[in-house]
Amino acid sequence: MAFPVHRLRRLRRTERLRSMVGETRLSVDDLIYPLFICPGEGVRSPVDSMPGVDRLSVDQGVEVCREVSDLGIPAVMLFGIPESKDAYGSGAYADDGIVQRAIRAIKQATPELTVIGDVCLCEYTDHGHCGVIKEDDVENDATLRLLVRTALSQAEAGADMVAPSDMMDGRVGAIREGLDSGQLKHIPIMAYSAKYASAYYGPFRDAADSVPQFGDRRSYQMDPANSNEALREVELDLEEGADIVMVKPALAYLDVIHRVKSTFEVPVAAYNVSGEYAMIKAAGQMGWIDEERIVLESLTAIKRAGADMILTYFARDVARGLQIGKSV
Ligand code: PBG
Ligand code: ZN
Repeated sequence: MAFPVHRLRRLRRTERLRSMVGETRLSVDDLIYPLFICPGEGVRSPVDSMPGVDRLSVDQGVEVCREVSDLGIPAVMLFGIPESKDAYGSGAYADDGIVQRAIRAIKQATPELTVIGDVCLCEYTDHGHCGVIKEDDVENDATLRLLVRTALSQAEAGADMVAPSDMMDGRVGAIREGLDSGQLKHIPIMAYSAKYASAYYGPFRDAADSVPQFGDRRSYQMDPANSNEALREVELDLEEGADIVMVKPALAYLDVIHRVKSTFEVPVAAYNVSGEYAMIKAAGQMGWIDEERIVLESLTAIKRAGADMILTYFARDVARGLQIGKSV
């Protein structure tokens, strides 16, 4: 029976009613805050294209993690900016590498905080690619060895989870095998499974100084035109032992998030990436949009699409806002 018996506006009449019938709720529990760790001490160096985001030396990273933990955000994702870079990205798997040192310091100061290590080589290679180069191409199988070393060194330093973001074939299986052959069977893998070759990573590459020195990442990251292929990537990563699968970026890929969640019904993460952050910040600073409402609306949409958790540079802002009881 239709109008006039049914009137959907009845349940939109008050804030209380609206919140009772709300289908999706963004919660601080869903958020993961990414951090850039750099050399030095007392360093908080702003990233121009990401207002509000700093590169932090280990001691400052620890301070921010205390605040993150106090805000009730359950996890951080660590990216490292090493002192020096080389062809093999050796800073990524050095025992005293920048991320390994940060993991130790953060786990000591805030043991309750879940620390996730981003596993990739591009922040550590002088050519800026995510793997080993041979004849101007990223060599898949030679890269796997280095990714396994990176994941193991992070887990040995105390990381609670590792997150390979390189898009080499077979890396989840290789890392799982590496972890399982040590005393690290309990460490979950969050796989960047459907990671697209996206222009939305621009500000991140400024922050990490990881722009490829030649070519681009299209021979390993996915073509934005494809979503069946995303399901294949996810399926393979799950077969290889991924515990959580990720779709990245988020907002231009809500359909992919939805397909992944409804097809596999496993924990799904979505990465609200640097370019998505920068666009909202820029328009907000111009006074062209209401930043706070746009942030909550966007993150709620990512959850509605099917994400269980969201990596976002807005995590601290949201946690502060949500704690004082604001909703979209
Ligand atoms: C490294 C990595 C990137 C991001 C996360 N891990 C950059 C890239 O692939 O170029 C992007 C995150 C962001 O843009 O916020 N492989
Ligand atoms: Zn990379």
